[in-house]
Amino acid sequence: MTTHFSVANAPTNTVLTLQRYPSNQESNLQAWDAADEHLLKQLSEESPPPVRTAILNDSFGTLTCGLKSFAANWPLWVETDAKTSLLGTQSNLQTNQLPSEQISFLNSQDPLPDGLELVLLKLPKNLSYFKYQLNRLSQILPQGTRVLIGAKAKSINKSLLALIEKNLGPANASLTYKKTRVITCIFDGKRRELDPALTWSVPEYQLTMHNLSNVFASNKLDIGARIMLQHIPQGDYNTIIDLGCGNGILGLRAAQLNPAAHIHFVDDSEMAVQSAQTNWIENFNAEANVRGHFHWDDCLTHLDPDLKADLVLCNPPFHQGEAITDHIAWQMFLDAKRRLASGGALQVVGNRHLAYHVKLKRIFRNCETIASNGKFVILQAIKD
Ligand SMILES: C[S@@+](CC[C@H](N)C(=O)[O-])C[C@H]1O[C@@H](n2cnc3c(N)ncnc32)[C@H](O)[C@@H]1O
Repeated sequence: MTTHFSVANAPTNTVLTLQRYPSNQESNLQAWDAADEHLLKQLSEESPPPVRTAILNDSFGTLTCGLKSFAANWPLWVETDAKTSLLGTQSNLQTNQLPSEQISFLNSQDPLPDGLELVLLKLPKNLSYFKYQLNRLSQILPQGTRVLIGAKAKSINKSLLALIEKNLGPANASLTYKKTRVITCIFDGKRRELDPALTWSVPEYQLTMHNLSNVFASNKLDIGARIMLQHIPQGDYNTIIDLGCGNGILGLRAAQLNPAAHIHFVDDSEMAVQSAQTNWIENFNAEANVRGHFHWDDCLTHLDPDLKADLVLCNPPFHQGEAITDHIAWQMFLDAKRRLASGGALQVVGNRHLAYHVKLKRIFRNCETIASNGKFVILQAIKD
């Protein structure tokens, strides 16, 4: 895997060293893609002055580092919903000794500034989230602002261009470069309202769920989560962690079954953490609020070092952005082991073919099958 990225036409012919986050992951995946290269190539050919620019969905900071290598004083607002992107961008800036003074880091719900003159956006996989981002831009951009959207050519079609036109302004796609295109959209000056969070209910457990647009399983229970819900343990637990909580459904059920336990909800997506918190407040009475704790984090990296759990519940992701990978599951299992008190349990649900039992046996030296059906399996490993 290469970590050296050449920034075309940067003043000093810059070669950046760029890594994913965390950099010690075993996935062997590159930190940038051809759409990043295309966006930077197009900009460098135009050699624009360093204007007030927002960068949205920069996976690990390639665009941010690229613009900073064009001009160290480029004023940037860098927005991401993923904590791993934020940490990866900050780490890559540091590795390449690029200045971060004129960069404001924003999450997916922080207010964007007025007076932006340019926006660079990587097309996210989730189009509801993309629509949310376009509508959010429509609330603050000056009319006529240029928004450059980088994407794989195969993701660009008439309906995507129509979606952009409807939610921000007229859009045209460039010629292809390394199987990617850059869509140029010019903001039409019309302000759009944001869609409300999706709301649905899980009558079996008397729960009402709200999902913001970038949260896993947008308007229904995930099938893995549905099976896990039937097997959430009940016991003498003080501290339970819902790791990769999404909307918080597993932790909410654990709180119902274990009314004295403190529940920690953790996710890489800020919108997921926010949704879990809304769902907690909506489903439990005010006294229960002291039992719910919410963390925007990469696995369990930054939790209080003294926090020890008796039970960790986990429905792990099997991709990071566009890339299919099991390195996050691996990191989650390692972090869970570190955080569990002796005798504590990690309970995992996964597609049978992912063979999580192999990883759990390697890490914990034990693994029991709690339940299974044709497709899914629920596994439990105990820390010695
Ligand atoms: C399969 S979903 C499970 C969501 C929810 N627990 C459920 O069962 O419906 C996996 C979740 O892991 C989160 N995730 C991905 N990478 C993560 C990371 N590095 N640290 C923490 N959470 C992560 C995703 O945002 C997603 O919400």
